[in-house]
Amino acid sequence: MRASQIIYLSLLCYMPLLRVKGDASADLASAEQAFFTWHEQQAPEYSTDAGSKAFNDRLADLSMGAFDADYFAVEGFINRTQAIDRSQLSRQQGYSYDIFLDTLTTFASNYQWRQFGALNPVNFMESFYLDLDYIIDIAPFDTKGDYENYIARLEARPKQINQIMDRMHEAIRLGTTYNLVSVLKVPGQIAEVINTPPVQSTLFKPFNETLDKLTLGQTDKDDMRARGLQGLRGVWTALNRLKTFISDDYSYHTRGTYGVGGLPSGGSFYRACLKWHLSLDTSPPQVHQLGMREVDRITHNMQKVMSRQAFQGTVAEYYTKLKADPQFHRSSADEILKDFRNLIFNRIYPKLPQLFKDIPDNKVVVKPLPYDGPYGMYSSGSDDGSRPGTFYVNLRRPNETSTFTMVSLTLHETVPGHHLQYVYQAAAKLPSFQRHIDYNKYYAVPYHFPFYTAYTEGWALYSEFLGEELGVYQDDYELMGRYGDEIFRACRLVVDTGMHYLGWTRQKAIEYISARTPMPQAEVEIEVDRYLTWPGQACAYKIGELKIKELRQRASSALGDKFDIRDFHSLLLNNGPVPLKVMETIVDDFISDQGGNAHSGGPIVG
Ligand SMILES: *[C@@H]1O[C@H](CO)[C@@H](O)[C@H](O)[C@H]1NC(C)=O
Ligand SMILES: *[C@@H]1O[C@H](CO)[C@@H](O)[C@H](O)[C@H]1NC(C)=O
Ligand SMILES: *[C@@H]1O[C@H](CO)[C@@H](O)[C@H](O)[C@H]1NC(C)=O
Repeated sequence: MRASQIIYLSLLCYMPLLRVKGDASADLASAEQAFFTWHEQQAPEYSTDAGSKAFNDRLADLSMGAFDADYFAVEGFINRTQAIDRSQLSRQQGYSYDIFLDTLTTFASNYQWRQFGALNPVNFMESFYLDLDYIIDIAPFDTKGDYENYIARLEARPKQINQIMDRMHEAIRLGTTYNLVSVLKVPGQIAEVINTPPVQSTLFKPFNETLDKLTLGQTDKDDMRARGLQGLRGVWTALNRLKTFISDDYSYHTRGTYGVGGLPSGGSFYRACLKWHLSLDTSPPQVHQLGMREVDRITHNMQKVMSRQAFQGTVAEYYTKLKADPQFHRSSADEILKDFRNLIFNRIYPKLPQLFKDIPDNKVVVKPLPYDGPYGMYSSGSDDGSRPGTFYVNLRRPNETSTFTMVSLTLHETVPGHHLQYVYQAAAKLPSFQRHIDYNKYYAVPYHFPFYTAYTEGWALYSEFLGEELGVYQDDYELMGRYGDEIFRACRLVVDTGMHYLGWTRQKAIEYISARTPMPQAEVEIEVDRYLTWPGQACAYKIGELKIKELRQRASSALGDKFDIRDFHSLLLNNGPVPLKVMETIVDDFISDQGGNAHSGGPIVG
């Protein structure tokens, strides 16, 4: 029996101790809630997204002073958390404590890197003006107060744009700027927004029909329209200044090397970014080696299929041939939607009970993506199930979609991937800070609160593998679709570390990926520019998947016949997003609980 079980039993017997347990438990819950509220106020758009109205009239403070203010606040939460006796907490609360402390210390321990990524808030993938629909979608427009909040935010935007330029000036002064590829498209992206007159912009939409429907005097409506338009004009002027600054100033001071390795202390900075994204201590050369091993293994799997089909050419030639084959094309968007639904509901769902139990009854829906974005993406619903989880599919170019890639994508985005992840998590009723992750400010990594991407994306990639165990891939073509997706995640380990740590050029990375994956050259270039902009981020998928497989192997060999894969999967899903270190603790506890011998294995990359 383990120490924590003894404590738990003794608590049931001795009333006086219950008070102590109650205190630790209540202290943790209130510290976590206080942090969540503080974080909402510090990141007002995150708060809006999480469904609160409290800070809807504000935007994030991107002043230089915010760096220190945030640090001191987080240090206070760390002190408060460390004063709680973890041994007095229940199992699940103990994990919550570990996640909480990891979230806080990951932020605070990277204070020294605040003058790197965090000084560069604008790039070709990140800025508020890139997704105007999102701003409108998350904000409520039901009352006069909602409109006043929205106007206040428009009026606050020019000040924030000035703060962004101040930061980028400082990055120039310190020599911690992006490579040019990260901002090359930015002036054009801004031009696209401000070349539309404010009154025709998406940001003005709420002032048209939506405002008309509100029961409010005409004078009030006219007044709000006028102030809204005035606010938008101010935003357009500020954006124009930002555009000029990027094209005439910042672009000339971008870093001379592709990767961050060329920055002062760049190697250590890259290690910090990698650790932040992987939630695991490992070294860039280890990740690089692991990537090459994975690429070889998957290539070998591909070659087995290709020789079964007596195909003589290269991997790239194989995929070119497959993509041109009419048998893998559908003529209309409707047929594609039908295929996806058939796949999810008739081919995958009926098989899930082989590997999962107590599956919450909350089914995913499939819809066309309303704009021309990625091929597929998942958006989680509301925790009460009133808004369902949605799998969006880009149907703009139905004739360019190949059906042999549908299976792995579906497993990844829906079940057992992101949708299953979300429904278990929603059912687990986790604390707010665990349920709502602030997926913003990728640029600020590692001086930022972690997203635990290695968990979320690692699980989704592991789900593509589970498709093999479930028998979902029904022929060699679908299997090749899976390998194509998988090898691409393995290549990321090689080229991300290659460019940021080992001095690879952009061209070398592009050639490496193009020779080994089905991806068209134009897409490979965008991918590589993404890796250059977000050091380490793309490595999280494969590392997370390998960690899950490693822990599964550890549990099944320690428990032998007693190992139930369905319990193991519940265990991983019921705790929501966790750092990989904590996932390891959770699995070791599970092994001990079931009477096995938990051993702390070495790191996955050894
Ligand atoms: C946290 O604790 C440390 C060490 O005791 C102390 O130096 C620091 O001032 C505390 N910070 C806050 C914000 O309470
Ligand atoms: C809002 O209404 C005005 C006036 O009818 C129109 O010119 C403008 O295009 C509309 N804007 C949007 C974004 O729909
Ligand atoms: C797909 O259809 C569009 C419009 O009908 C056409 O312009 C395009 O060339 C087609 N692409 C392929 C790959 O057939």
